[in-house]
Amino acid sequence: MINISLDMQTVLAGVGMGLLVYYVIKRMRYRLPPGPWCIPLIGHYKVYSSVAKHRKIAELSKVYGPVVRLSFGPVPMVFLNDVEVVLEAMVKKKADFSGRPHSPSGDMFSGGGKGIFLSTYSPTWRYHRKIAGKAIRHYLQGDLLENMIQNNMNKFLDKMAEEKDPFIIRNHLDLMIFHQLYTICFGEKPAINDPEVKTLLELNEALFTDFGAGVLEDVVPYLKDVYTTAKWKKLSSNTDQLLDIIRAKFKQHVDTFEPGINRDFIDSLLIARQEAEKEGDEAALEILDDTRLVLTISDIFFAGVDTTRFTMDWFVYFMTKHPEIQSKCQEEIDRVVGSECPSMKHRDTLHFTEACMFETMRLGNFIVMGFPHMTICNSQVGGYDIPKGTTVFINFWALHHDPKYWREPEKFDPYRYLDENGKSKTTKPDSWLPFSAGSRVCLGETVAKPEILLMCANLLQRFDIRLPDGVKPNPEIKITGFGIELPSDYKIVVKERI
Ligand code: HEM
Repeated sequence: MINISLDMQTVLAGVGMGLLVYYVIKRMRYRLPPGPWCIPLIGHYKVYSSVAKHRKIAELSKVYGPVVRLSFGPVPMVFLNDVEVVLEAMVKKKADFSGRPHSPSGDMFSGGGKGIFLSTYSPTWRYHRKIAGKAIRHYLQGDLLENMIQNNMNKFLDKMAEEKDPFIIRNHLDLMIFHQLYTICFGEKPAINDPEVKTLLELNEALFTDFGAGVLEDVVPYLKDVYTTAKWKKLSSNTDQLLDIIRAKFKQHVDTFEPGINRDFIDSLLIARQEAEKEGDEAALEILDDTRLVLTISDIFFAGVDTTRFTMDWFVYFMTKHPEIQSKCQEEIDRVVGSECPSMKHRDTLHFTEACMFETMRLGNFIVMGFPHMTICNSQVGGYDIPKGTTVFINFWALHHDPKYWREPEKFDPYRYLDENGKSKTTKPDSWLPFSAGSRVCLGETVAKPEILLMCANLLQRFDIRLPDGVKPNPEIKITGFGIELPSDYKIVVKERI
């Protein structure tokens, strides 16, 4: 017994010594970014176990500077906390920082890093980004986007108008935006209570909650090979069900595809495949297999729904919190759009409403720490070395609250984006980066901005949105899975304006 415990002590001392030597050698070889001391292997527990990591890390950056290095368990990670270092890494040295780290749960969702979002920097990722980007831009042609938004919104605004008691708008927005992305991706206009859309929403919600709360197998990757936890089974089954729906849609499209006719996003991808066939581009055809295309569709669908619905939720929250700003948007919408339907032609003259959307994206910045990047080679940022294979996060929350760039960062102030004549400034403040920057910049930005603006304009054209009588805005923030920040549940009442 005594011998065993002595042996254990020796082993532990050996491991400790080994770690210390490794740490010292690594420190000597590289000029690593600074960060507070932590217990090896355990890491900065107080930071990574906190729900508001982004806020804690922003605080640390006041002490350690804009590039902070922390250990999440045994894994070192780097956090970029101001726009200068973000642009240096993501734009100036863009390829260096454009990888994505692997994780067991990410691999489950992306068939081992296929698709776009979870695929690391590679020619295959670049090619899928290119064809998906072209497919998204297709919606900016003619009146495609505005017609789709109009048709879809009318159904849901009618539903909201039927609400007699105060209600949570999030539930309506979620359904509305799921229907919208469903039409973009699959071409169909489902009925308001379509069961398949409902299933997609429920699966997305379950996956969001479960992935968002963290997955044990990502910390102990070998666990899944020896024991399947109940949560892993649930994640795997929900992922399969969700991808099965998209696979079925994809197959329907392949079976009914007519060359030269582009019905939706899936057809755009099939057209890209057809062009590669015509050109005999074997390299492209090899990576345009059904599995990868299905994952690209899934990425667009889910990247589009959550971001759009959370932005709309924050927009309504700010409009109820600042009724005077809501009235100013309505004055503008009445003046510019009148009784027409808000459309792309009004986009460039809805300066104030657009400024409110930009400010919503800053202050209601739900993607607080973005998505992990990974260095694909040894690189540097802010004067520090970042070794190959390091996970790097952009702290968007820190950028959007940086007092160097934002006076009174906690204030909802659309005038930040307007010149003295009330027109949109030609450039936005430097530290406004909700869509990120560089090679991994959001692929949907070009469509998300007009889509959200038209939705905001439609909503405020039709309704006055208020908190119920006697209710004050709730300043509390709800931090959900992945650290996403949302307003606490709030109820509203709507009154038809016309
Ligand atoms: C308000 C709306 C949106 C916001 C704020 C937003 C923001 C972001 C951010 C921060 C990223 C991560 C960039 C990085 O890794 O550094 C991202 C990636 C992405 N977004 Fe968006 N997004 C929005 C809407 C959309 C929409 C509507 C679509 C699709 C129609 C979309 C498709 C994508 C895709 C495919 C990626 C992955 C890009 C890659 O990894 O190469 N997004 N978005």
